[in-house]
Amino acid sequence: MGHVLPVSIVNFLFLGIILAKKNVLFLVSDDLRPNIGAYLGPDSPSPVHPAMHTPNIDALAARSLLLKRAYVSVAVCCPSRTALLTSRRPDTSHIYLIGSYFRQYGGNFTTLPQYFKQNGYRTIGMGKVFHPGLEAGDDDPISWTDPYTHADDDYIKHDDLLIEAVSEEREKAHPLQDQILAASAIQALKEVAPAAKSGERPFFLAVGFRKPHITWNFPARFMDYYPLESLSLPPNYYAPVGMPAIAWHNFSNLAKFKDMQTYHLTNVGNINYTFPTTLTLKMRQAYYSCISYMDHELGRVIDELDNLGLTNDTIIAFWGDHGWQLGEHAEWAKETNFEDATHAPMMIHVPGVTDRGVVTEKLTEFVDLYPTLVEAAGLPKLQVCPPDSQNVSLCTEGTSMVPLMTNPTLDTWKTAAFSQFPRGGTGLDGDIVMGYSMRTDMYRYTEWINFKGRPIYQPVWDQLKGVELYDHTKDPQENWNRAFDPSYKDIRVDLSRKLKIGWRGALPKPHS
Ligand SMILES: *[C@@H]1O[C@H](CO)[C@@H](O)[C@H](O)[C@H]1NC(C)=O
Ligand SMILES: *[C@@H]1O[C@H](CO)[C@@H](O)[C@H](O)[C@H]1NC(C)=O
Ligand SMILES: *[C@@H]1O[C@H](CO)[C@@H](O)[C@H](O)[C@H]1NC(C)=O
Ligand SMILES: *[C@@H]1O[C@H](CO)[C@@H](O)[C@H](O)[C@H]1NC(C)=O
Ligand SMILES: *[C@@H]1O[C@H](CO)[C@@H](O)[C@H](O)[C@H]1NC(C)=O
Repeated sequence: MGHVLPVSIVNFLFLGIILAKKNVLFLVSDDLRPNIGAYLGPDSPSPVHPAMHTPNIDALAARSLLLKRAYVSVAVCCPSRTALLTSRRPDTSHIYLIGSYFRQYGGNFTTLPQYFKQNGYRTIGMGKVFHPGLEAGDDDPISWTDPYTHADDDYIKHDDLLIEAVSEEREKAHPLQDQILAASAIQALKEVAPAAKSGERPFFLAVGFRKPHITWNFPARFMDYYPLESLSLPPNYYAPVGMPAIAWHNFSNLAKFKDMQTYHLTNVGNINYTFPTTLTLKMRQAYYSCISYMDHELGRVIDELDNLGLTNDTIIAFWGDHGWQLGEHAEWAKETNFEDATHAPMMIHVPGVTDRGVVTEKLTEFVDLYPTLVEAAGLPKLQVCPPDSQNVSLCTEGTSMVPLMTNPTLDTWKTAAFSQFPRGGTGLDGDIVMGYSMRTDMYRYTEWINFKGRPIYQPVWDQLKGVELYDHTKDPQENWNRAFDPSYKDIRVDLSRKLKIGWRGALPKPHS
């Protein structure tokens, strides 16, 4: 800015506190595992194959706090997003599976965008931020100052194909869903920019991209980055040795699409089922192509922020709602407690703080993002929730990650990340089995147990249905369950004790 008009100086002085407020651009990708360039490298906990073409997300990562080891609360959209957006874990929100609303089953919690709204922000949501649909709360209207915007996916409705490389001609006639969404986001930025720049009203703009979620329709040109001959099969195209069956997710729904039916596949979804080799590679290629396409659309939105001169006043958060098995363990999609499903990308750019890029390998959790953005934006901080916070509208079950921005190897940090996944029901309609999983620096430990007493479930720890212990120091792919290996007996006892104590026991201990 070359010069400042006197009237702006007066406004600046008068609205000093408001002017200090930073905007928030809140970007989400659906079903994105950390398969982006920024996660490549020998220190990466999760292997990235092949080299990815994600220039926009990589550039954002290079000026962000990059959370290399962030874990979701539940590896499926609705409960994962609910946990992130309310900063309450599933046993508080009582949201375990898709299509249910925390205000109905958990409590009248103040969400992340709602809190910014209460603090004078204009809050705008578009695409998939909350899980969509009436049952899941109709995108939580109370969170937004403006009417919600959705973009339709005409391709799935019309074609019903799992994999669809869209020609340039067809793309021009029928823009794809994330292209429409990016255009809406650019429009919204133009609209909110003047008030944000004058200090009159900051914004919180949430944009939920739909890719790389199935179905995999994408502009064909993005496939050029991933020729089939450059791709490989999953390194572990088999279920872990000693895996209990309850750990398994049946992915037979992938076979229902029109193009998949032409293969006449049988037994899809069974443990150790593998797709034919070429089909496996094509599925991996389509997932990667969708990531590059989504990266391109996300880049257009970030560029617009730059064009409008808002970059230095805007925090950018980016995350994928959970991981995805792309054939590892001979498993596909999400809905497990494996590393591939619970580990997801997350990064936060705070202008003037993370500009040079900060990478941390500390264990972090999706419930941590809410208190982090609140602190980074300078809003009143949140208290940690009491044990039963059903009637507490504003509190957090996470930990602000702001300290990691200046000290990414902080000693006093949480010692475990917690995830869980239900089996045998929706969690709303009767007793189920719950898989409680915990990631420590060296291990992943999971107990599948009976979960009883709807609507407020209680874990029945002595009714075990399966146990898994993976040693990440020797087996980062989690191919070998050591729960019943006598040489891991003491480790298992210790991990089991910590799992039962839960997240409060793993919180950072303040220096005495
Ligand atoms: C939920 O809380 C909001 C304020 O956050 C309030 O406006 C609304 O009336 C509450 N709803 C119910 C059903 O209590
Ligand atoms: C799946 O295959 C792996 C590798 O061959 C084997 O160790 C494991 O026991 C198999 N699992 C089941 C349930 O068949
Ligand atoms: C997986 O689901 C399909 C469709 O519901 C079913 O036919 C198949 O038996 C299931 N496989 C297993 C191992 O449960
Ligand atoms: C934004 O911040 C950077 C780094 O502090 C600075 O070099 C640049 O001039 C700023 N841009 C504007 C438009 O103020
Ligand atoms: C929350 O409020 C409801 C309705 O007033 C009450 O029945 C319930 O016991 C309260 N829960 C807690 C944990 O205080």
